[in-house]
Amino acid sequence: MKTTLKFLGSIVALIILFVAGFLAYVSFKSPKIYTVPTSNLTVEVTTERAANGQRMASMLCIQCHANDQNQLTGKLMKDVPAEFGQVYSKNITAHPDLGIGKWTDGEIYVMLRTGIKPDGTTGLFMPKFPLMAEEDVKDIIAWLRSADYSLAPVEDEAPATQASLLGKFLRDFVFKPTPMPSTSIARPDTNNLVALGEYVVNKQIACFACHSKDFKTMNELEPTKSEGYCGGGNPMLNLQGEVVYSTNITFDETGIGSYTEDEFIQAVKYGKKKNGEQVRYPMVPHTQLTDTEVKGIYAYLKTVPKLKTLSVK
Ligand code: HEC
Ligand code: HEC
Repeated sequence: MKTTLKFLGSIVALIILFVAGFLAYVSFKSPKIYTVPTSNLTVEVTTERAANGQRMASMLCIQCHANDQNQLTGKLMKDVPAEFGQVYSKNITAHPDLGIGKWTDGEIYVMLRTGIKPDGTTGLFMPKFPLMAEEDVKDIIAWLRSADYSLAPVEDEAPATQASLLGKFLRDFVFKPTPMPSTSIARPDTNNLVALGEYVVNKQIACFACHSKDFKTMNELEPTKSEGYCGGGNPMLNLQGEVVYSTNITFDETGIGSYTEDEFIQAVKYGKKKNGEQVRYPMVPHTQLTDTEVKGIYAYLKTVPKLKTLSVK
């Protein structure tokens, strides 16, 4: 009996030692450095490209990078839970040193696809776009190179992110870089509503990321395999630091089962829920989506397996 206890005791001690060692390792080691994929891509900045890039950026980039004058200088991410540390976004204006003025189009492309920056590091909380159509990624790059007011060089820089232990662990072990696409990804056929909606929900605006169970268990390469795909319940913070759970956007009766197409357009484009309330941050009105795109999302979500809303609220 005594020896068994002793034996168990030493196992526990060993485990504790191992865990403590691992935590110390994660907190002191320098960030992981990845091999940077090469891309010689150059993007021609046309008015059409920059305009579509701006349209997407207004839904995908600006919320996280803009200061209160709408310049993309980077800022404290108030909606990142404190347990990840103090997370700041970066200056992505054309400033040569503080912004991304010196990055090549290829370097921006690689980072948007994989999350890997020119120095081989990855950041925390910058989303990746591994499934977006080639032409849409190019349009975002064209916008970044355009004369848009919010991208004019600004001599201002948000402080560096102070990741917590959990933040570092997630950065280096969970939110891994995604691979470069092996073939050129085409835009969906806009006459096929379901295909168009699937593209917006899973690959472009990525509604699924917020609307599935948790960012930690989302599957960026195969979105429909994310835990609780589109069933909501993802705990997120508003700008006051209060938890707002994402809602169930499957067609179950506990989700959006009773929404008509018109009511759905009102909710997605103008933030007006069926019950008359305004959607709360971090859900924002997506006025830049076309009605056809929102009808596509509606048609696609009808094909998604229904899930019951968990008893969070
Ligand atoms: C959820 C918030 C969020 C969104 C949305 C977002 N970013 Fe970021 N972005 C960040 C954060 C945070 C960082 C800093 C990551 C780090 O620690 O390096 C960052 C870093 C970057 C960097 C690297 C800059 C540098 O000097 O290291 C670029 C470029 C960038 N973002 C561009 C974009 C573009 C373009 C979009 C839209 C397609 C976008 N971001 C959308 C939060 C966001
Ligand atoms: C940044 C995270 C985020 C993104 C991206 C996002 N949503 Fe939301 N959405 C939320 C949250 C959180 C709520 C709940 C807001 C509330 O309770 O007031 C919500 C609410 C909604 C509602 C209201 C549902 C109801 O129960 O009345 C609809 C519809 C919706 N989102 C659809 C979408 C669609 C479609 C997209 C993609 C175009 C999308 N959302 C993108 C976070 C997000």
